[in-house]
Amino acid sequence: MHCTRKVTPSITWVGGSDYRLALFENLFPIPRGVAYNSYVIEDEKTALMDTADASITEQFLENVTYALHGRALDYLVVQHMEPDHCANIAQILLRHPNAKIVCNQKTLTLIQQFYDADLQEKVVLVKDGDCLSLGSHELHFAFTPMVHWPEVMVTYESTEKILFSADAFGSFGAINGNLFADELHFDRDWLADARRYYSNIVGKYGPQVQNALKKLGGLDIRIICPLHGPIWREDLGYLLGKYDLWSRYEPEDKAVCIFFASMYGDTENAAQILATKLAEGGVKDIMMYDISRTDVSYLIGEIFRASHIVLAAPTYNNGVYPAMANLLHDMKALNVQNRTIGLMENGSWAPVAGKLIKEELSALKNITLLEPAVTIRSAVKGDTVEQIEKLKDAIIASL
Ligand code: FEO
Repeated sequence: MHCTRKVTPSITWVGGSDYRLALFENLFPIPRGVAYNSYVIEDEKTALMDTADASITEQFLENVTYALHGRALDYLVVQHMEPDHCANIAQILLRHPNAKIVCNQKTLTLIQQFYDADLQEKVVLVKDGDCLSLGSHELHFAFTPMVHWPEVMVTYESTEKILFSADAFGSFGAINGNLFADELHFDRDWLADARRYYSNIVGKYGPQVQNALKKLGGLDIRIICPLHGPIWREDLGYLLGKYDLWSRYEPEDKAVCIFFASMYGDTENAAQILATKLAEGGVKDIMMYDISRTDVSYLIGEIFRASHIVLAAPTYNNGVYPAMANLLHDMKALNVQNRTIGLMENGSWAPVAGKLIKEELSALKNITLLEPAVTIRSAVKGDTVEQIEKLKDAIIASL
């Protein structure tokens, strides 16, 4: 049975949610599920804004059929060719053989790479800035490469002032009936997953996101319709402000996150002592993560939030403990910048983790390394506590 909601009287949300998928992109845990949004526009001509993931095909197709009220589809606008949005192109064309695919040249190349269909007669190629009239609705296409793939374009509907934003402004999390951000407690229930989605999926491409924000900055936008997560029709400045901070790699919060890896509890003990001393020094809202037990996508999300990071790890095979090496890899891959970082290493006979972590961090821009880096020799002793005390002082002084 169809399950849709009206965005405006002429625009219908025809997406759906997957509560069963464990890993988005077979990589990122999504315990709250994920939504694949798609939209039907009814006018003199009808248009469908992207399709949806294969996991929700049946629901999606029922929704589209319902929203079209028996009419044929005139245009399928393909903003993004990642399969979580394009998997049902063939299904739509089967049901609407006269529909035209509206896309750009890069999109067409990807369609032909992913699928075998001969689309020559079906495609309307658009360029950056082109406009397509549906009647009273006008679709203006703006290319936003690398937000999140090179072919991505967003679409501004100028009559109702709606931005169809592709992956931008999306979030992990299934839609639980409440489709609009103003129906949710976004800050409490969604922000962490929106940040985790942004930082892990698009985080590498901050400069491109900044370009997109500048390009769209002059538009009068009333509603933002992303391809994942809630739709925004109130307080758009809140979300735009988050994207501006994230894409400039600026922290949202003056806050301390301690990421520890610990084989037998001794490095954890040092991290606990540091956290306790910070708390006694007046630092609030300290977050601690056992990085062996926390998926790295959550750690990256927290790194995009917090100003101060402490990395604590043992030496392992004359290198850095694997969970920490993995985190450092993602920090580099996702272009983390502008953070203040404290280090704690452990090593029973040849501690090198601290030195190696510093070498990895030297690839990141504008990182302030706090002194001293704490060295634990197997377990915390009196001299280790003195070092931890000094690191605590350095963190508080820099907050
Ligand atoms: Fe939601 Fe980049 O696909």
